[in-house]
Amino acid sequence: MLESTAKLLQEARNNGYAIGAFNIYNLEGALAVLRTAERLQSPVMLQLLPSALAIGGSPLISYCRAAASEARVPVAVHLDHCPDEQVIEMAMRGGISSVMADGSYLPLAENIEFSRKVVAKAKAMNIGVEGELGRLSGEEDGIATPEAMEKMTAPEEALQFVDKTGVDALAVCIGNVHGKYRKPPELDFERLKTIAEKVTVPLVLHGTSGLPDTMIRESISHGVAKFNVNTEVRSRYMTAMKEISSRQSFELVEVMEGCIAAMQVPIEQKILLFGSNERIKQ
Ligand code: 13P
Repeated sequence: MLESTAKLLQEARNNGYAIGAFNIYNLEGALAVLRTAERLQSPVMLQLLPSALAIGGSPLISYCRAAASEARVPVAVHLDHCPDEQVIEMAMRGGISSVMADGSYLPLAENIEFSRKVVAKAKAMNIGVEGELGRLSGEEDGIATPEAMEKMTAPEEALQFVDKTGVDALAVCIGNVHGKYRKPPELDFERLKTIAEKVTVPLVLHGTSGLPDTMIRESISHGVAKFNVNTEVRSRYMTAMKEISSRQSFELVEVMEGCIAAMQVPIEQKILLFGSNERIKQ
């Protein structure tokens, strides 16, 4: 069933687990997430980047909504990392459950202004908003942010940002990186703890692929209620696609089913690690 992002995150935070927000690009991605979530009895989020929407447009949101509505577990459909107000509006009109208003590249005052404007529109339509303070380095869909541009989230600014914008969730940078970790990950848990003491909204960690299990568990214990997962699932998809299509003969449906099965492996690992399995009240 389709559920609000706010409800999924609040229940997760209250009960000491986290929701997996999996970036998907198409039908196969959505099915991999929903089949796994149903099997594990887990609430889950389907997450669309603007790069996926640039291809699929609002019909892709409609499909995700319809699939979420038919699912036997609560599902929210989220627009990930969007700095563009026009795309945010298109997603809102298209029926998205929540959006990430990404003003993390802006100076604080401008980020507050941008996020506040998005929140005002979203609230009127009962849509959730995730803001980001600080900036992650790394790479996603070929777009790279160099390490020198990384900016850790300042706890005092986090309080100010949440109060002034009214966002429902806050993405933080504590050393997490999008895409592949070039060196062993180091997360600043003292910083995360201080942020969690200051702000009441659920916290979000991007760049989950490649983080060790212990760091995931510790993040949850300090208030992280949503983890964004892309690279590990996407690379399984592409490896399976290459492997199946290099066979001497194959049908397209075999590629589709093979890719769905391949993506389910990391999705299952993450759901179990986040502790969101067996959370559906009968
Ligand atoms: P990874 O690709 O590192 O899993 O990060 C995904 C993400 O943060 C999407 O917003």
